[in-house]
Amino acid sequence: MTSILVLNGPNLSRLGSREPEVYGSTTWEQLVKSLEAAATSTETISVRQTNDESELIGWIHEALDLQAEVILNPAAFTHYSYALRDAVAMFTGAQLPLIEVHISNPHAREEFRHNSVISGVATGVIAGFGVESYHLALAALRSRR
Ligand code: DQA
Repeated sequence: MTSILVLNGPNLSRLGSREPEVYGSTTWEQLVKSLEAAATSTETISVRQTNDESELIGWIHEALDLQAEVILNPAAFTHYSYALRDAVAMFTGAQLPLIEVHISNPHAREEFRHNSVISGVATGVIAGFGVESYHLALAALRSRR
């Protein structure tokens, strides 16, 4: 059995009503359902969201302990959380994949979004495909097994 944690940072639970021109009209509940429904018979998929940096880092530790694969949308933490980066860096040593995802394409937006402190320690990055970015990340995880 492969455990997959889909971890989301601040404000992503507002999906659907939050800046729909940027993030689309799919609601958070719809996204959670579509990801849970995508699990194969050999996968468990747990989708979580927090506005709390400490809780998000705790989930990264949990993923390491569980030997879980991770899809991470760090949201605004992407751009400044060295603490989250240090947690994600432990994945490299553990040889577990962690894919950074973004709904929007941060490079096509404000300058402060152009830098990710996470990308340098992620296995790969998928951005700009709307909520489909998460499903592309799932496909990427499967292609590496
Ligand atoms: C985001 C992009 C970030 O810049 C932003 O802070 C978010 C969402 C995205 O999924 O496009 O909250 O990670």
